[in-house]
Amino acid sequence: MTKTIAIVSRKGGVGKSTICSNLAVLAVNATVLDCDDQATLADWGDRRSQLYPQVISIAAKRAASYLQTTKTEWNFIDTPGTLDGGVIEVMKASDFVLVVLRYGQFELDSVSTTLSAIQVTGKPAAIVLNHIHPNTKASELIHDLEAAELGIPIAPIAIRLRTDFQNAAVQGMGVAELSKSSKASQEIMQLWQWLQQAINP
Ligand SMILES: Nc1ncnc2c1ncn2[C@@H]1O[C@H](COP(=O)(O)OP(=O)(O)OP(=O)(O)O)[C@@H](O)[C@H]1O
Ligand SMILES: [Mg+2]
Repeated sequence: MTKTIAIVSRKGGVGKSTICSNLAVLAVNATVLDCDDQATLADWGDRRSQLYPQVISIAAKRAASYLQTTKTEWNFIDTPGTLDGGVIEVMKASDFVLVVLRYGQFELDSVSTTLSAIQVTGKPAAIVLNHIHPNTKASELIHDLEAAELGIPIAPIAIRLRTDFQNAAVQGMGVAELSKSSKASQEIMQLWQWLQQAINP
Protein backbone atom coordinates (compact mmCIF):
# COMPACT_ATOMS: atom_id res chain seq x y z
CA MET A 1 0.00 0.00 0.00
CA THR A 2 1.27 3.47 -0.88
CA LYS A 3 2.64 5.51 2.01
CA THR A 4 3.03 9.27 2.01
CA ILE A 5 5.59 11.18 4.05
CA ALA A 6 5.32 14.96 4.46
CA ILE A 7 8.58 16.79 5.20
CA VAL A 8 7.87 19.94 7.17
CA SER A 9 9.36 22.73 9.24
CA ARG A 10 8.12 26.23 9.89
CA LYS A 11 11.73 27.43 9.61
CA GLY A 12 13.25 27.91 6.20
CA GLY A 13 16.60 26.52 5.10
CA VAL A 14 16.74 23.65 7.59
CA GLY A 15 17.18 20.95 4.94
CA LYS A 16 13.63 19.84 4.07
CA SER A 17 14.29 19.60 0.34
CA THR A 18 17.69 17.96 0.92
CA ILE A 19 16.26 15.23 3.14
CA CYS A 20 13.15 14.80 0.99
CA SER A 21 15.13 14.27 -2.23
CA ASN A 22 17.67 11.96 -0.61
CA LEU A 23 15.01 9.76 0.98
CA ALA A 24 13.02 9.64 -2.27
CA VAL A 25 16.10 8.39 -4.13
CA LEU A 26 16.48 5.58 -1.60
CA ALA A 27 12.80 4.69 -1.74
CA VAL A 28 13.35 4.00 -5.47
CA ASN A 29 9.70 3.63 -6.47
CA ALA A 30 8.65 7.09 -5.33
CA THR A 31 6.86 10.27 -6.32
CA VAL A 32 8.00 13.63 -4.97
CA LEU A 33 5.37 16.33 -4.72
CA ASP A 34 7.11 19.68 -4.61
CA CYS A 35 4.63 22.00 -2.87
CA ASP A 36 7.08 24.89 -2.51
CA ASP A 37 6.79 27.61 -5.12
CA GLN A 38 10.58 28.01 -4.95
CA ALA A 39 10.44 24.74 -6.98
CA THR A 40 13.69 23.46 -5.44
CA LEU A 41 12.92 19.80 -6.08
CA ALA A 42 11.17 20.41 -9.39
CA ASP A 43 14.45 21.98 -10.57
CA TRP A 44 16.38 19.10 -9.00
CA GLY A 45 14.12 16.65 -10.86
CA ASP A 46 14.81 18.48 -14.14
CA ARG A 47 18.54 17.81 -13.63
CA ARG A 48 17.90 14.05 -13.31
CA SER A 49 17.93 11.52 -16.09
CA GLN A 50 16.41 8.62 -14.09
CA LEU A 51 12.70 7.83 -14.28
CA TYR A 52 12.30 7.71 -10.47
CA PRO A 53 11.55 9.44 -8.28
CA GLN A 54 8.96 11.20 -10.36
CA VAL A 55 8.86 14.86 -9.38
CA ILE A 56 5.66 16.86 -9.63
CA SER A 57 5.32 20.55 -8.88
CA ILE A 58 1.93 21.19 -7.28
CA ALA A 59 0.20 23.65 -4.95
CA ALA A 60 -0.05 22.34 -1.38
CA LYS A 61 -3.83 22.69 -1.48
CA ARG A 62 -4.02 20.33 -4.49
CA ALA A 63 -1.66 17.70 -3.11
CA ALA A 64 -4.34 15.63 -1.34
CA SER A 65 -6.34 15.05 -4.52
CA TYR A 66 -3.20 14.38 -6.55
CA LEU A 67 -2.15 11.71 -4.06
CA GLN A 68 -5.20 9.66 -5.10
CA THR A 69 -3.68 9.27 -8.56
CA THR A 70 -0.09 8.25 -7.75
CA LYS A 71 0.90 4.65 -8.41
CA THR A 72 4.27 4.60 -6.69
CA GLU A 73 5.03 2.73 -3.47
CA TRP A 74 6.09 5.92 -1.68
CA ASN A 75 5.12 9.57 -1.94
CA PHE A 76 7.25 12.32 -0.43
CA ILE A 77 5.91 15.84 -0.07
CA ASP A 78 8.35 18.72 0.18
CA THR A 79 6.74 21.76 1.77
CA PRO A 80 7.74 25.43 2.12
CA GLY A 81 9.06 26.79 5.43
CA THR A 82 5.61 27.71 6.72
CA LEU A 83 2.46 26.09 8.08
CA ASP A 84 0.26 28.31 5.90
CA GLY A 85 -0.95 27.89 2.34
CA GLY A 86 -2.17 24.31 2.60
CA VAL A 87 0.69 22.69 4.54
CA ILE A 88 -1.73 21.54 7.27
CA GLU A 89 -3.86 19.85 4.56
CA VAL A 90 -0.69 18.20 3.24
CA MET A 91 0.02 16.78 6.69
CA LYS A 92 -3.57 15.54 7.02
CA ALA A 93 -3.25 13.75 3.67
CA SER A 94 0.00 12.04 4.70
CA ASP A 95 0.68 8.87 6.65
CA PHE A 96 3.68 10.30 8.46
CA VAL A 97 5.14 13.76 9.11
CA LEU A 98 8.90 14.22 9.31
CA VAL A 99 9.98 17.47 10.95
CA VAL A 100 13.46 18.61 10.00
CA LEU A 101 15.19 20.50 12.79
CA ARG A 102 18.45 22.37 12.69
CA TYR A 103 19.70 22.37 16.26
CA GLY A 104 19.75 25.87 17.70
CA GLN A 105 17.78 27.96 20.16
CA PHE A 106 15.86 29.93 17.51
CA GLU A 107 14.93 26.70 15.73
CA LEU A 108 13.85 25.07 19.01
CA ASP A 109 11.77 28.15 19.83
CA SER A 110 9.90 27.80 16.55
CA VAL A 111 9.39 24.03 16.59
CA SER A 112 6.60 24.04 19.18
CA THR A 113 4.21 25.70 16.70
CA THR A 114 4.98 23.00 14.15
CA LEU A 115 4.44 20.29 16.76
CA SER A 116 1.09 21.78 17.87
CA ALA A 117 -0.07 21.75 14.25
CA ILE A 118 0.96 18.12 13.84
CA GLN A 119 -0.89 17.22 17.03
CA VAL A 120 -4.08 18.67 15.56
CA THR A 121 -3.71 16.45 12.48
CA GLY A 122 -3.22 13.39 14.73
CA LYS A 123 -0.60 12.00 12.34
CA PRO A 124 2.38 9.96 13.49
CA ALA A 125 5.51 12.07 13.28
CA ALA A 126 9.17 12.36 14.21
CA ILE A 127 11.90 14.96 14.32
CA VAL A 128 15.16 14.47 12.46
CA LEU A 129 18.15 16.63 13.25
CA ASN A 130 20.02 18.00 10.24
CA HIS A 131 23.08 20.17 9.70
CA ILE A 132 24.89 18.69 12.71
CA HIS A 133 28.59 19.49 12.62
CA PRO A 134 30.62 16.29 12.03
CA ASN A 135 32.54 16.83 15.31
CA THR A 136 29.41 17.28 17.42
CA LYS A 137 28.21 14.33 19.49
CA ALA A 138 24.81 13.79 17.90
CA SER A 139 23.77 11.35 20.62
CA GLU A 140 24.01 14.16 23.19
CA LEU A 141 21.82 16.49 21.11
CA ILE A 142 19.27 13.71 20.60
CA HIS A 143 19.35 13.00 24.34
CA ASP A 144 18.79 16.71 25.12
CA LEU A 145 15.84 16.83 22.73
CA GLU A 146 14.33 13.71 24.28
CA ALA A 147 14.78 15.26 27.73
CA ALA A 148 12.83 18.31 26.53
CA GLU A 149 9.77 16.00 26.23
CA LEU A 150 8.43 17.56 23.07
CA GLY A 151 5.88 14.77 22.72
CA ILE A 152 7.30 13.48 19.44
CA PRO A 153 9.93 10.78 18.79
CA ILE A 154 13.41 11.93 17.79
CA ALA A 155 15.02 9.92 14.99
CA PRO A 156 18.09 8.19 16.45
CA ILE A 157 20.09 9.09 13.34
CA ALA A 158 21.11 12.71 12.90
CA ILE A 159 22.13 14.00 9.49
CA ARG A 160 25.43 15.84 9.56
CA LEU A 161 26.76 18.74 7.59
CA ARG A 162 28.40 17.03 4.59
CA THR A 163 29.44 18.64 1.31
CA ASP A 164 28.17 15.49 -0.48
CA PHE A 165 24.61 16.77 0.02
CA GLN A 166 25.45 19.95 -1.88
CA ASN A 167 27.44 18.11 -4.59
CA ALA A 168 24.61 15.64 -5.14
CA ALA A 169 22.01 18.42 -5.38
CA VAL A 170 24.01 20.18 -8.09
CA GLN A 171 23.91 17.03 -10.20
CA GLY A 172 20.24 16.26 -9.56
CA MET A 173 21.22 13.25 -7.49
CA GLY A 174 20.97 11.85 -4.00
CA VAL A 175 24.13 11.22 -1.98
CA ALA A 176 23.55 7.47 -2.31
CA GLU A 177 23.80 7.82 -6.09
CA LEU A 178 27.15 9.62 -5.76
CA SER A 179 28.66 6.95 -3.51
CA LYS A 180 27.02 4.27 -1.42
CA SER A 181 29.94 4.19 1.01
CA SER A 182 30.19 7.89 1.90
CA LYS A 183 29.35 9.01 5.41
CA ALA A 184 26.45 11.07 4.08
CA SER A 185 25.06 7.97 2.31
CA GLN A 186 25.46 5.79 5.37
CA GLU A 187 23.57 8.30 7.50
CA ILE A 188 20.72 8.86 5.08
CA MET A 189 20.39 5.09 4.51
CA GLN A 190 20.19 4.52 8.26
CA LEU A 191 17.56 7.24 8.53
CA TRP A 192 15.56 5.61 5.73
CA GLN A 193 15.76 2.20 7.46
CA TRP A 194 14.56 3.74 10.71
CA LEU A 195 11.79 5.69 9.01
CA GLN A 196 10.39 2.63 7.23
CA GLN A 197 10.25 0.83 10.59
CA ALA A 198 8.54 3.82 12.18
CA ILE A 199 5.91 3.93 9.43
CA ASN A 200 5.36 0.17 9.07
CA PRO A 201 6.18 -1.19 12.53
N1 LIG B 1 23.19 17.90 5.86
C1 LIG B 1 23.57 18.87 5.04
N2 LIG B 1 24.88 19.01 4.72
C2 LIG B 1 25.29 19.99 3.89
N3 LIG B 1 24.48 20.90 3.32
C3 LIG B 1 23.17 20.80 3.61
C4 LIG B 1 22.64 19.80 4.45
N4 LIG B 1 21.30 19.98 4.55
C5 LIG B 1 21.01 21.03 3.77
N5 LIG B 1 22.12 21.54 3.21
C6 LIG B 1 22.23 22.73 2.35
O1 LIG B 1 21.57 23.80 3.04
C7 LIG B 1 20.82 24.59 2.13
C8 LIG B 1 19.35 24.58 2.56
O2 LIG B 1 18.87 23.25 2.43
P1 LIG B 1 17.42 22.97 1.81
O3 LIG B 1 17.20 23.77 0.58
O4 LIG B 1 17.29 21.50 1.72
O5 LIG B 1 16.53 23.54 3.00
P2 LIG B 1 14.96 23.79 3.01
O6 LIG B 1 14.50 23.58 4.42
O7 LIG B 1 14.31 22.97 1.97
O8 LIG B 1 14.88 25.33 2.64
P3 LIG B 1 13.55 26.17 2.23
O9 LIG B 1 12.81 26.41 3.51
O10 LIG B 1 14.11 27.42 1.61
O11 LIG B 1 12.77 25.31 1.28
C9 LIG B 1 21.05 23.98 0.74
O12 LIG B 1 22.10 24.69 0.12
C10 LIG B 1 21.49 22.55 1.05
O13 LIG B 1 22.35 22.03 0.05
MG1 LIG C 1 13.06 23.53 0.38
